[in-house]
Amino acid sequence: MKIGIGSDHTGIELKGIIIDHLKQQGYEVIDYGPNSPESVNYPEYGEKVARALVAGEFDLGVLICGTGIGISLAANKVHGVRAAVCSEPYSARLTRMHNDANIIAFGARVVGSELAKMIVDEFLNAKFEGGRHQNRVDMITAIEQQG
Ligand code: RB5
Repeated sequence: MKIGIGSDHTGIELKGIIIDHLKQQGYEVIDYGPNSPESVNYPEYGEKVARALVAGEFDLGVLICGTGIGISLAANKVHGVRAAVCSEPYSARLTRMHNDANIIAFGARVVGSELAKMIVDEFLNAKFEGGRHQNRVDMITAIEQQG
């Protein structure tokens, strides 16, 4: 499975830790930046990863900012993206199983690196259940398509 990852400046250190963690498990990881610790704007990286996801460059995404909120809000403006902010593993698993979330987001100022690894692992190891959940995801898509 191919994973796309991006952050803002607050998430850059944790981004590196998560990339190493994923590579150790055999995932192919595409890093959409940033590549230096200078201050950047989270909407730019949320959008970059979101557009790459819908273009099919990778299967599932990871976004990190201070809280995970701003960067996920930006990503969710791109049609087809369902980015979920999760600060613990249970929600991370359920957002794949029920919401078919395709991006997991979290805050480098909220979670430590070990918890972040657990959040990512639960997200990536879970499978969308479909069925009644598919209907609900379709309803979200319909809202998106109404503009
Ligand atoms: C940057 O200071 C901070 O606002 C950003 O990382 C994020 O937390 C926004 O939601």
